[in-house]
Amino acid sequence: MKSQAITNNFQEANVDALAVAIFKDEKITSGILKDLDKLTGGLVDSVIKTEEFKGEAGETVFLRYAANGKVKANRILLIGVGDKIDYQLPQVAVLAGTAARYLIKHNIRSFALAPRSDADGSDVATSAAQGIVTSQFELDKYRTQDKKDNKVDTFALFVEGARDKDLKSGLSRGEIIGDSMNFTRDLANEPPNILHPTEMANRAQKMAKEVGLKCEILDQAKMEKMGMGSLMSVSYGSAQPPKMIILKYEPKKSTGKKGELLALVGKGITFDTGGISIKPSEGMDAMKYDMSGGATVLGTMRAIGLLQPTVPVLGIIAAVENMPDGKASRPADVVTAMTGKTIEILNTDAEGRLVLADAVAYAEKQGATKIVDMATLTGAVIIALGDLNTAVLGNDQGLVDEIIACGKEMGEDFWQLPVSKEYSKLIKSDIADIKNIGGGRKAGTIVGAVFIQEFIKDAKWAHLDIAGTAWADDAKPHRVKGPTAVAIRTLLKLVEKSQ
Ligand code: BES
Ligand code: ZN
Ligand code: ZN
Repeated sequence: MKSQAITNNFQEANVDALAVAIFKDEKITSGILKDLDKLTGGLVDSVIKTEEFKGEAGETVFLRYAANGKVKANRILLIGVGDKIDYQLPQVAVLAGTAARYLIKHNIRSFALAPRSDADGSDVATSAAQGIVTSQFELDKYRTQDKKDNKVDTFALFVEGARDKDLKSGLSRGEIIGDSMNFTRDLANEPPNILHPTEMANRAQKMAKEVGLKCEILDQAKMEKMGMGSLMSVSYGSAQPPKMIILKYEPKKSTGKKGELLALVGKGITFDTGGISIKPSEGMDAMKYDMSGGATVLGTMRAIGLLQPTVPVLGIIAAVENMPDGKASRPADVVTAMTGKTIEILNTDAEGRLVLADAVAYAEKQGATKIVDMATLTGAVIIALGDLNTAVLGNDQGLVDEIIACGKEMGEDFWQLPVSKEYSKLIKSDIADIKNIGGGRKAGTIVGAVFIQEFIKDAKWAHLDIAGTAWADDAKPHRVKGPTAVAIRTLLKLVEKSQ
């Protein structure tokens, strides 16, 4: 895709169509809408006046007209963006994605977009480019026929009066973020026979090389040496060996607080059958996305490698397959984690917390002072929050607040659930230090979190349960259904703010 910045003469862009944002109940008075109205011989005003188009968010009207003179484009796409007060940077990404998908459907691959946002030009460019790139992601990777070709050839962004240089740097930032989100989505969408732990590690290594990150893979022998009995217990039932993926980003010049190290830790269960506590067969196929937390860490680290913030970041993924066979863990087994804590496994389907136990402990051992783990950890979070909010829990209110605030800025909603000693009592075991389930059907998401908390020593820690938000059941005008790459933009903002 060629992306261009334009700062004046929107209509004269060398493209086939012009897409423009329209606010709710907007009247055409002056400026760009007036110009477009003139260009179309009054068509824009007439669709707005006749209330054919009200400017509600996501509404679209496509106008065809005879262009003449200097203007090449002979199509205009009006896109509603709702009330001006609700129109922030994340909505620019939605607008851009909606425009791209709409126009591609009409076989138009070159267009200019006027988002008409008051925000900083470079930020508008970042959002728009990200929205365009993520809108092009499709699920049909393994189709050999009827594959969609939805590639945009030319995208020209118009922000009146902005500096060309700012728009260009914003656009390239947005493309990096969008490509990194698509990298995550591709991983989450991969079939589990293809993306097993070893393949996940291979993809991480290849990506790390491309973007200049250090990458180390711990195999089972190394895990044994380090005493990661909790993590390894999950993979005993699988023919696929477990892998711990470690990515390191070190800035050339560091500006962050001295001694501070952020670690992003992801659950990378490449398939979750439940193990011996096997899941019902209906819907089990969805469990290919149980590595979404790990995929999110990989995508975020990819973007970090390319954007080069001035703080170091550590990425850790526990890549494991949860299968039942003769060597699998049994309900009633007791295992010892790397920290020395003993765990009674009472349900082998509560495996995410078992792999994260050793992964967060490893992160802290590597010097992490701030840990954010992310996981498709519980079905309970889907009951509590649906697919609209990611649950956030943690031992440090400052960190939790920061995540919620960064999320708000980036259009990703987080909702805090509590952790406390009372909840931790629910996982006391009769025969070991702790057990991996507790409380029956009560507070499932919290119980998962307080289990992970047992393996944090001094670090500030937050846990994101993305089981409800990492996969979308329905398509939207700006994106397909399926993997969402949730939390990447929020985490990048968190990193940016700690510089
Ligand atoms: N991967 C699942 C959580 C999950 C369920 C994600 C449904 C997405 C949709 C996790 O490993 C799991 O099975 N959790 C159990 C925990 C229970 C046994 C305490 C659950 O949520 O049922
Ligand atoms: Zn499970
Ligand atoms: Zn799982």
